[in-house]
Amino acid sequence: MAESALDDWAALAALDWQVELGADEAILDAPVDRYALVPEEKPAPAAAPGAAPVPIRPAEVDAVAVATEAASRAQSLDQLRGALEAFELCDLKQGARQTVFCDGNPAARVMIVGEAPGRDEDRQGKPFVGRAGHLLDRMLGAIDLSREAQDAARAVYISNVVVWRPPQNRDPSAEEIAMMRPFITRHIELAAPDLLVVMGNIACDALLGRRGITRMRGQWDTAVGRPVLPMFHPAYLLRNPEAKREAWADLLSLKAKLEGA
Ligand code: URA
Repeated sequence: MAESALDDWAALAALDWQVELGADEAILDAPVDRYALVPEEKPAPAAAPGAAPVPIRPAEVDAVAVATEAASRAQSLDQLRGALEAFELCDLKQGARQTVFCDGNPAARVMIVGEAPGRDEDRQGKPFVGRAGHLLDRMLGAIDLSREAQDAARAVYISNVVVWRPPQNRDPSAEEIAMMRPFITRHIELAAPDLLVVMGNIACDALLGRRGITRMRGQWDTAVGRPVLPMFHPAYLLRNPEAKREAWADLLSLKAKLEGA
């Protein structure tokens, strides 16, 4: 047998052994903040003596810095929507029909943050209006909450981390999430809900800085200065109806928190 094939089998055996010992994740001893890792600047090539000066390439625009500045200037939800509509550094915007900003009652005690618009949301300009949205409405109705409610105590306000539909509904990239984070953070500050619900891994990543919804769901945490409950995304529940049991437990936890239990 060739040496590389032997290496492959040895590597597979070592991996099996580690899995058997319970190692099911590739992690380091200490967390790494990938957003803080700045790519090393390459020095500009030295011009040959007597040669015409090499034009200096304009520094790359820092989309996260521009987003942070634009979001922080917004003093109202309308201004924030305007800031997003004027933000041209996210490629997703080019392929989307419109900006999907929010739905529901901005005075609500509960704000729900999802992932990104899909086809129906892109067409209608509102978050969670497709199949997953209908399930979300039924889930909320089960604990007497509604996006239609005028009364803040019964109302919900809904938005997404990403406001433009990704092509083929692919997951937003780390870069896209990073440039949308200042906007969703400011969105939450301006809406000022008492409680947040983050649905699925993308929303957990954007607002809690980590993924792992199966372990995170149902565990209250804090984001943007208020309690946050990670829950399974309704699209996941449509694909995995057996997980509705856990979702129901999480809804009861949300209800209890609202009632001050
Ligand atoms: N999934 C989301 O996360 N948000 C929507 O608006 C629709 C589907």
